[in-house]
Amino acid sequence: MSKLTALIAVFAGMVLVACESGPDSGAAKAPPVRTTTTLANPAQLGVNLDARAYQDRLRARNLDPAVVVRGRELFAANCARCHGAFGEGTPDWRKRLADGTFPPPPLNGTAHTWHHPDQLLLRIMRDGGQSYGPTYQGAMPPMGKMVNAAERQAILQYLKSLWPDEAWRTQKDITRENPEAE
Ligand code: HEC
Repeated sequence: MSKLTALIAVFAGMVLVACESGPDSGAAKAPPVRTTTTLANPAQLGVNLDARAYQDRLRARNLDPAVVVRGRELFAANCARCHGAFGEGTPDWRKRLADGTFPPPPLNGTAHTWHHPDQLLLRIMRDGGQSYGPTYQGAMPPMGKMVNAAERQAILQYLKSLWPDEAWRTQKDITRENPEAE
């Protein structure tokens, strides 16, 4: 552990202790404590970075930490059962199953989610695999009734926080070149 990492860990611990043991720490303070906890431990978000590096990444990508945390919760509740706890997908996601469909792919930047513009990703979340085209036969279900537009945006922000730099940069360009509406 570098000196800096150790310092951040100590600092994060102090913030937590301060929040939890303050004289008026009650139910009303729960959300800030939770946000601090989560961002102080990027592993809880499925991110292999220390707290400082992760916060730098969010800032550089213009991602709102509170929205990312919310997206993480929505992902865990609605998507993780198929796409894995942190969007790691199924190891054999390239191999068709016996019924001819593909298993859920990783969404964490190791597959090809970042080849698609925001608009298509949001549409896939809302309408399911039909978004690829009318002849689609796969198993990605429409999730529009489970997660509303703001929630789909939050999930997308969370997914973007997982992607490696190169994937994130490329997807940003693809989105700019394909500006059609969701
Ligand atoms: C019942 C299982 C299931 C659930 C629940 C599910 N998915 Fe999927 N998803 C799939 C499968 C299977 C595919 C692959 C579709 C294909 O290739 O035919 C997929 C594909 C996708 C893709 C396209 C990935 C790519 O690289 O093209 C995105 C984005 C996606 N899912 C996001 C989500 C999100 C976000 C949620 C939660 C709101 C979610 N999915 C919930 C099964 C699921």
